[in-house]
Amino acid sequence: MCGIVGYTGCKSAKDILIEGLRRLEYRGYDSAGIALQNEGALTCVRRVGKVAGLAQAVEHLDNPGTCGIGHTRWATHGVPSERNAHPHCSCDGNIALVHNGIIENYAELREELIGRGHVFKSETDTEVIAHLVEEAYKGDLLAAVRTACARLVGTYGLAVVCAQEPGHIVVTRRDSPIVLAHGDEGSFVASDIIAVIEASRDVIVLGDEQYAVMTPEGIDCFDAEGAPIDPEIMHVDWDVDVAEKGGYPDFMLKEIHEQPRVVRNTLAGRMTDKGLHIDEFNLSLEELNLIDRVYVIACGTSYHAGLIAKQLIEGWARIPTEVEVASEFRYRNPIITPSTLVVAVSQSGETADTLAAIRDARIKGARVFGITNVVGSPVARESDGVIYTKANKEIAVASTKSFLGQVVSLTLLAMLLAQSKGKLTVGQIRILFRELADTAEQIERILQDTTSIDQAAMACKDATSALFIGRGVGSAICYEGALKLKEISYLHAEAYPAGEMKHGPIALLQKGFPVIAVATQSPVYDKVISNIQESKTRGAMVIAIATEGDEEIAHIADYVIYIPKVRDCFSPITATVPLQLFARSIAIARGCNVDQPRNLAKSVTVE
Ligand code: F6R
Repeated sequence: MCGIVGYTGCKSAKDILIEGLRRLEYRGYDSAGIALQNEGALTCVRRVGKVAGLAQAVEHLDNPGTCGIGHTRWATHGVPSERNAHPHCSCDGNIALVHNGIIENYAELREELIGRGHVFKSETDTEVIAHLVEEAYKGDLLAAVRTACARLVGTYGLAVVCAQEPGHIVVTRRDSPIVLAHGDEGSFVASDIIAVIEASRDVIVLGDEQYAVMTPEGIDCFDAEGAPIDPEIMHVDWDVDVAEKGGYPDFMLKEIHEQPRVVRNTLAGRMTDKGLHIDEFNLSLEELNLIDRVYVIACGTSYHAGLIAKQLIEGWARIPTEVEVASEFRYRNPIITPSTLVVAVSQSGETADTLAAIRDARIKGARVFGITNVVGSPVARESDGVIYTKANKEIAVASTKSFLGQVVSLTLLAMLLAQSKGKLTVGQIRILFRELADTAEQIERILQDTTSIDQAAMACKDATSALFIGRGVGSAICYEGALKLKEISYLHAEAYPAGEMKHGPIALLQKGFPVIAVATQSPVYDKVISNIQESKTRGAMVIAIATEGDEEIAHIADYVIYIPKVRDCFSPITATVPLQLFARSIAIARGCNVDQPRNLAKSVTVE
């Protein structure tokens, strides 16, 4: 969840590290720090709060050198404070390191190291590694890091510098992402491609328990035993400007506006003369036909995409489908057989619970298919096949365009299963595919005029709680609408299938209580209208997401947000967009930072 950067080359390390941290800040933003190596000594600067504070602190640093490491933190062990911020140093100050992950046996290691005279300055799990490397160092940093890592239980992405080894950075990882790149200006490391992409489009993806030694001249990689290896190289075709706001006031709005492109890119090349084709889904027709149960496993927003998938897979392919939060799935004993397909959905591709669930499902014999946004991510690497959502890097912590990419990818998967089971003909799929592709243009229309969304948001901005209601696929996107609202505006929100209102939640309603109803045209439209009426009768302020041309609803709801008419199964793609904008508008009105909500981090790499 934290972000790691490192650089050694011919430029000022300070500036490159600060820029890298700025790009990685979405991974954690409660404190940040850098360690610079220069003339046989290390200079460490750390600050509580955002990278901007650290940048100010190092602005006038004299002679900062051309080699260093940096970190932006999301606290796990030890409160956010300068003392607990990374880099952490050895007793003699000659070793400094940054770490992403959790060292599970840190308590016993700490006790052991204190027993041997080491003095600890922080409450973090990370600091034990600095002392272990210090003890093991006999003039060879790589050897010392390998010796130290052999003592660690847990997960880590590590970058280590030593005052006595100018220009060298040693890097390793276990279950925590690390990528490296070498370019004209030197060697770069980071926990995310976005911080190394300007150096080279060909990045080294370090494998678990592999090591890299970076120097200004190049990067050498080694296996766990220290033998040289040829690392895996991955070509990345992301836009370089992905880390810039491009004229938008925040990344969230920029990413919401990128959604039409995500739909188009995710669908590109999928429909052939012979029908729908997903190359990456490397199961034969016979294997596909054997699938008799689907589990979609995911967390948070990705889980909500799964709720939509259930309705499509069951509706079209008639395969029983269960959607489960990964943190629950991994700790129970789900019924999995070789004919079970497990679909793991994860934007980052590194969510700890989702990864653990994948591993568990594979041990039990399931075929695992990943849906992720990050090329080469652990979810992609550990699945039998993968669809990339082609959303490009998502920077805002709250997922928007990735969610849409996931919904579109899962829709394709549902169609593919229906095609292979013979439940939908190629002709039927072609019609559906065309309508699915049309949603890109429909989203563009929604984005052209957001006046009604902003008006509804202003009416709700001072509320303390809100309810989202809908039926069918409409109820699935209500969960996403409520999550978006609470995570970025801190306004408490819940989602319910509209039919459940009478079984409890209706007791909450009183004059002015916001009820956001997804009431697009669908077979259950009349039922949703009845639920809206029941809410109005109890004084609620109703905001309806409705289909263009629906005049009736304007007489019942207080605010109506119209969206273009689409087939019911595709309404999650269009109706989600006003819900995202509604949440953002409220958050901005309440003075919240929509890109970096409190307590959150983009990649949840701890349990
Ligand atoms: C909310 C959000 C999170 C993520 C969740 C899973 O806006 O983004 O709920 O969806 O942390 O993350 P991934 O998809 O990376 O596994």
